[in-house]
Amino acid sequence: MKFPFRCFTLLALVLFYSIANAQTSDPAKMKSFIDALMARMTTEEKIGQLNLVVGGEATTGSVVSMDVSSKIRKGQVGGIFSVTTPNRVRKAQEMAVNESRLKIPMLFGLDVIHGYKTIFPIPLGLSCSWDMQLIEQSARIAAQEASADGLNWTFSPMVDISRDPRWGRVAEGSGEDPYLGSAIAKAMVKGYQGDDLSAKNTIMACVKHYALYGAAEGGRDYNTVDMSRVRMYNEYFPPYKAAVDAGVATVMTSFNEIDGIPATANKWLITDVLRKQWGFRGMVVSDYTSVNEMTSHGLGDLKTVSALAIKAGLDMDMVGEGFLTTLQQSLKEGKVTMADINRACRMVLESKYKLGLFEDPYRYCDENRAKNELFTEANRKQERITAAHSFVLLKNQGPVLPLSRKGSIALVGPLADSRENLVGTWSVAADYANPPISLLTAIKQAVGSSANVLYAKGANLTRDADMEARVSIFGKKMERDNRPADVLIDEALKVAAGADVIVAALGEAAEMTGESSSRSDISLPSSQKDLLKALVNTGKPVVVVLFTGRPLVLPEEEKIATAILNVWFPGSEGANAIADVLFGDVNPSGKLTASFPRSVGQIPIYYSSKNTGRPLVGTGFEKFRSNYLDVPNDPLFPFGYGLSYTSFGYSEVKLSSANLKGNQKLEASVTVTNTGKYAGEEVVQLYIRDIVGTNTRPLKELKGFRKISLQPGEAKQVNFTVSTDDLRFYNNDLKYDWEPGAFRIFIGTNSRDTKSADVNWTK
Ligand code: NOJ
Repeated sequence: MKFPFRCFTLLALVLFYSIANAQTSDPAKMKSFIDALMARMTTEEKIGQLNLVVGGEATTGSVVSMDVSSKIRKGQVGGIFSVTTPNRVRKAQEMAVNESRLKIPMLFGLDVIHGYKTIFPIPLGLSCSWDMQLIEQSARIAAQEASADGLNWTFSPMVDISRDPRWGRVAEGSGEDPYLGSAIAKAMVKGYQGDDLSAKNTIMACVKHYALYGAAEGGRDYNTVDMSRVRMYNEYFPPYKAAVDAGVATVMTSFNEIDGIPATANKWLITDVLRKQWGFRGMVVSDYTSVNEMTSHGLGDLKTVSALAIKAGLDMDMVGEGFLTTLQQSLKEGKVTMADINRACRMVLESKYKLGLFEDPYRYCDENRAKNELFTEANRKQERITAAHSFVLLKNQGPVLPLSRKGSIALVGPLADSRENLVGTWSVAADYANPPISLLTAIKQAVGSSANVLYAKGANLTRDADMEARVSIFGKKMERDNRPADVLIDEALKVAAGADVIVAALGEAAEMTGESSSRSDISLPSSQKDLLKALVNTGKPVVVVLFTGRPLVLPEEEKIATAILNVWFPGSEGANAIADVLFGDVNPSGKLTASFPRSVGQIPIYYSSKNTGRPLVGTGFEKFRSNYLDVPNDPLFPFGYGLSYTSFGYSEVKLSSANLKGNQKLEASVTVTNTGKYAGEEVVQLYIRDIVGTNTRPLKELKGFRKISLQPGEAKQVNFTVSTDDLRFYNNDLKYDWEPGAFRIFIGTNSRDTKSADVNWTK
């Protein structure tokens, strides 16, 4: 009797799943399918769906998941992350689908942050391209590769606005600006999810870290956040909301507290803002053990905080198993309701439904795709182009760049022959057995026999061996040279003596930024400063190729280096891309998306600041004005800044009218001319200032940008349409509207160097 019954159950389930799930995009069908499935589930099975476990090496906390296989068989796992490859994913999925009572397939996630096998520039670098097509395409390729290797969910995009480069995770975001950050959030979601989540080459995106994680006090990771609601709504929320508007499938809560309540149990944040105000209809997942961590925050024991989290609106619990181990008891005690558990379970099941997993749990387990679609030549080619577009030329005296392929080039510095560091932080799927070629190899290949390339390391990354060991993790080595510092510098000087130009590859190791990599001193380590000074003293031109995951404090370097090319961490083809730019095959066009301070003391520093009641009028110090005794107010390099090998001239700003009414539209334009010798791309930026308001308003806010290409001598008119939507802001009552009055429209090459014209806009 037993066998036929089982057979029948299996058959019924297969039929049930395939018929009900035939159309993944029909909400009514999805609802009736999930209603029917949930009617068959025990409370324990429902709670099991809320459990997300970690199955691989990529742990980002002290807790790891135990007894994963037996939990899968018991129906106690809804999703698993850090398990990859069709073979491994299939095996785990088989356990769920063949051995658990209800045979519900699992989600498979990973931190696919800036590429999967083909690693793209770190997100901060990518954002400096200001190129939404390139950005979307990088996410598209990441989704293509990840889905070919068994995955259906990425914990990206990370859209946390940050104005504090001490925070290591600035590397993972898109900088300081909500308007640009929103455009990038949208492009990333579109790239990962495409138009159809059930397609085999798209994956669910997860916007994170909701919310305000980038405003941690003192730039110290996981630290307290406290800010006004006006600031949240106007400056920090927009990119999360943009991702929701773009249809992001999932949202991850952040580690920090907001108004004294950690995000993971913050009902106002998850239910009132995210679900009710923004209309988010997908699944909300915690960050790694962020449910459990609320005990350390001081909210109570695991049972208490787990109940708080699900009641606040959290659906899935990452790794900590607070839901799995305590919700039954809380239900008995009346601390949570069946409706809370049902809601969360439905959200998880809907995600699976939308991906088409009930139709085919193995839809991402195609060995052929894994063989043919990973790290392809086409993907690497695209990465090389993207990387070159992320570089920001900070200085080019002479101009010394581009270099010619002749004579002798001395390449020195701790990052000149480093390979693993090129991929930057959060590149967990990179092939560390075959790391990218180093800059040294790329430059040698680029010049062939037409120039002589000499090399010396010149300095260790830092004098501090402990720090160097700390950042030589996750497969990224720095290969410390234990000879005394002066011996290393002397060796570099000998190499430099025979060269026409010196290229110094300096900066941070990849893991000096990223999670739990905050720094209080964000200048170049002294070992590298000394090397640079010695190189500059030779009197030869010194081009700094700067690797960094954050804005650094570089006032001295800016003074003494002949040129600085900021390359962030450029990815799998990064070294080739650097060579492309150094030798002028590609003209740099990246623009900063985060201000570079002159001093750590200026932080937080950002272009869209307020005027204050005592603004500094001139440039020098003035008593009783808002300024510092020891440093100017402005940054070393402002938001939007970046040079090109050519130069661009801007006309005055032309407006279609100086007086507008109601919902009329304003046309603002400039003519941009390529006044130099090279073809080049320019990001033309439009900012607005609302001169008088019921609330104080920023001095400038980015409200538009266009990337254009110009041949030498060519001129183009660039037009922007400004509508009253661009004037809206959240006032003290959190009402989102615009106020009539005077507005200044600025257009320029960066947030500092602009031309402007005024309009009066009445209701
Ligand atoms: C912790 C990080 O904050 C988050 O960004 C990441 O997605 C998870 N760990 C999973 O690795």
